[in-house]
Amino acid sequence: MRDIVSVNLPGREYDIHIGPGLLDDAGMLIAPLLSQPRVRVITDETVGALHLETLRVGLAGAGIVMESLVLKPGEGTKNWENLSTCVEWLLGQKVERRDVVVAFGGGVIGDLVGFAAAILRRGVRFVQIPTSLLAQVDSSVGGKTGINTRHGKNLVGSFHQPSLVLADIDVLGTLTQRDFLAGCGEVVKYGLLGDAKFFEWLETNGPKMAAGDVAARVHVVRRSVEMKAEIVTRDETEQGDRALLNLGHTFCHALEAATGYTGRLLHGEGVAIGCALAFEVSSKMGLCSQEDPSRLRAFLKNMGMKTDLSDIEGDLPNAEALVDLMGQDKKVLDGQLRFILTRGIGTSFVTSDVSRDLIVDVLQDALRS
Ligand code: GLY
Repeated sequence: MRDIVSVNLPGREYDIHIGPGLLDDAGMLIAPLLSQPRVRVITDETVGALHLETLRVGLAGAGIVMESLVLKPGEGTKNWENLSTCVEWLLGQKVERRDVVVAFGGGVIGDLVGFAAAILRRGVRFVQIPTSLLAQVDSSVGGKTGINTRHGKNLVGSFHQPSLVLADIDVLGTLTQRDFLAGCGEVVKYGLLGDAKFFEWLETNGPKMAAGDVAARVHVVRRSVEMKAEIVTRDETEQGDRALLNLGHTFCHALEAATGYTGRLLHGEGVAIGCALAFEVSSKMGLCSQEDPSRLRAFLKNMGMKTDLSDIEGDLPNAEALVDLMGQDKKVLDGQLRFILTRGIGTSFVTSDVSRDLIVDVLQDALRS
């Protein structure tokens, strides 16, 4: 039940291994990258308590010694202070250019540690061992690394591709249902943006996959990273098509800013709601059929995922204020907001040709319902 997907970037090719039991085999899989049998692993307290010992044993199986740094969990960790903590710790560990750093955790750890690896000694190699569904299907693949600042999310960072990704399906079993379903926001995004058959598959098999079916989980991670690998290979630094991966994200980032990046809204939940809003905008513009947004919302509800603005606890700003919050998004180009819209399930495209009034109208309707 194991799969390998390759990211074929010339000179920086790497494999993504997907399947159960990969932590047990981590040593054997990482060993070919090492010049000496030692790795530095950075994780967070939650993942560390659950899985660090399994990783240590898996590495020791191939004679690899592990030193670890354990950070606090949560989005707040992805800041300048922890970047400095990671870099200083790695330097204190005498990490050299030929060494390998391991990012062991969800998207926060992957982005932070990837960025630390990117700037340490002008770039050391790193291995991603993503432990959340969101990180397995999205953030661990493609080389986006970075931190948040007081000006917004992910505004400081670099493209630094990992040398290997190990997506162990077993670790998904320790996620809370809420975290798992949040990751499904990034999964459904792939079907919506470019693979109607995958969306259909999710309509049929999504509930079984969410309930824990391992083969279905392997399929979901594999198909997602296949699509991501293909897009990243075409457009590594987001000059064009890579922006498709931001379907739902312009709305999501405004909602995350409005909710203060707190537990009120997880990133993947915002992506799911953002996709539903992007489909609503597309339908209002006559780009896709009216059935498409309804079909998407029915799927999200059937999965038990957040679907509507009313699924976010507490008050939200009004529609105008939400549109203003989109202005800080990285997808603003020459002052113009860029949206990913759709001509139907599986056919998304990037455009700046959307009127502010229409976005405000859609948000007003969504806030009322
Ligand atoms: N998460 C969007 C990207 O990697 O481009």
